[in-house]
Amino acid sequence: MKHTTSLVALVLAGAASLLTACSSSPDERIVAPAGGATPAGMSQGEYLARAGNCVACHSIPGGAPFSGGLKMAVPNVGFIYTTNITPDPETGIGNYTFEEFDRVMRTGKARDGHRLYPAMPYPSYAKVSVGDMRALYDYFMKEVQPVKQANIPEETSGLLSARWMLGIWNMLFLDDDPYETEDDQSAEWNRGAYLVEGLGHCGACHTPRGFLSHEKGLEADDSNFLAGASLDNWSASSLNGDINSGLGRWSTEEVTEFLKTGKNLHGTAFGPMVEVINSSSAHLSDSDLNAMAVFLKSLPAKVEKGAKPWEYSDSTTTQLMSLKFEQRGSQPYFEYCVSCHGYDGRGSGAKLLPPLAGNPVVLDPRPDSLINLVLNGSLRIVAQGHVEVYDMPLFHKLMTDQQIADAVTFIRNGWGNTPDKAREVTPAQVAAIRAATKPVDSDDVVVLRMK
Ligand code: HEC
Ligand code: HEC
Ligand code: HEC
Repeated sequence: MKHTTSLVALVLAGAASLLTACSSSPDERIVAPAGGATPAGMSQGEYLARAGNCVACHSIPGGAPFSGGLKMAVPNVGFIYTTNITPDPETGIGNYTFEEFDRVMRTGKARDGHRLYPAMPYPSYAKVSVGDMRALYDYFMKEVQPVKQANIPEETSGLLSARWMLGIWNMLFLDDDPYETEDDQSAEWNRGAYLVEGLGHCGACHTPRGFLSHEKGLEADDSNFLAGASLDNWSASSLNGDINSGLGRWSTEEVTEFLKTGKNLHGTAFGPMVEVINSSSAHLSDSDLNAMAVFLKSLPAKVEKGAKPWEYSDSTTTQLMSLKFEQRGSQPYFEYCVSCHGYDGRGSGAKLLPPLAGNPVVLDPRPDSLINLVLNGSLRIVAQGHVEVYDMPLFHKLMTDQQIADAVTFIRNGWGNTPDKAREVTPAQVAAIRAATKPVDSDDVVVLRMK
């Protein structure tokens, strides 16, 4: 793979030299689609830093806010660490002028001219308006505590520190113009699009990536935008109108509720989405969350065009109650899952337990999230100051690869659930995820401080 990438990039280098530099200066006249007032006690800049979830990557549990140090994998290259973005002049970004900050946030070109890997979601942040970028800058310069902490050097295999390729990458994939209002859409829709495509960088996880790790679509009109993607042994499912594995059966209010509280009648957040809820979306205003939901609900089905909507079937319930475990996986489901998720898979209406029947993550064609969650459990959701009480236990030690493969296959085929692809999960799939992941300490409550 390494060779493929560098070769491809070399070929592209020739093509790219024909292109003129495409970095345009942001137009000062473009303003952000207006949001409401920021919640009490928060400056506009702090609110925007919440919306961009800067803290999730630029802090580590136990570390000083925004002092960096999170290890991130760059495919085919190695590992890099997020940097100190406190205003310390020596080790942080204290010497950045506004213009330099604006440039690095939109194009990934740092103050000293080196290029950032798109692990920093600058292709999304490019959409931020100049006014909002200034408020963010003021927040980092004036409100964040400076911390003297040197950045950790990247761990890349010498030759392949691929930073030199990134200028070309930018020419191919980066549109660094701020968000432009779509006149034929409502103010609410535009505000939602601005947040989802821009600061929220939802596509960084939910949009599939192409052969050079670029997101295959950055905007509503792109056919792959938010179409669902594999992500570090999880699957970030479709956020389009896909009727089974997407948000097609959720109402606007239900999408808002999920972003605010991490759950609704259809499902509960887990895996990396918990960090999005805990440190970003749970802090946003109701009107902004509603705007994001309005925008998401306008996106048409992209994967399941014309698919038949899921319908509940009670044959699984009847079969389980008969205690004849003929169907593959019914036995481990009965042993390890039924006590909470029930015979009928419908969940508790009080949202303490999510349904497995008709749940989009169970209908997702990629089973990675299900395997990972059963193996490792999940961090606790913290919303509106409350730590979630009920938690999915981890079965890392209790169940074999075969049992987990069978139980996951069972829920993917139960109660009318039938994801189109890869219906049967194999023990090898479980073994691969087991080897690459670690169990979560279910008592871990991770809320990264910004102050
Ligand atoms: C998904 C993870 C992620 C998020 C979210 C994120 N960053 Fe980053 N950021 C990175 C990484 C990784 C780097 C370093 C990239 C490299 O070394 O190539 C970086 C680098 C930077 C730099 C360059 C600093 C320097 O040392 O010159 C700035 C400035 C920055 N980020 C600001 C922000 C702000 C402001 C936000 C929130 C609006 C944010 N980042 C959100 C991952 C992230
Ligand atoms: C002690 C109760 C309990 C048991 C036993 C249990 N779960 Fe869960 N499960 C939960 C809770 C609570 C959640 C919600 C996520 C969270 O809060 O961690 C959940 C979430 C899930 C989800 C994700 C649904 C969503 O939208 O969040 C799946 C899939 C799942 N469980 C499958 C299983 C399987 C398969 C088993 C058996 C191997 C199992 N669970 C056993 C309590 C349980
Ligand atoms: C760091 C990666 C990451 C980012 C960034 C992210 N998500 Fe997610 N999201 C996930 C994963 C993984 C899941 C699947 C687990 C789950 O259902 O909680 C998910 C699930 C969801 C779900 C539930 C889908 C379902 O069918 O159950 C919604 C809604 C959602 N995300 C919305 C968003 C929005 C809106 C944004 C941007 C503000 C966003 N996400 C940003 C990783 C991410």
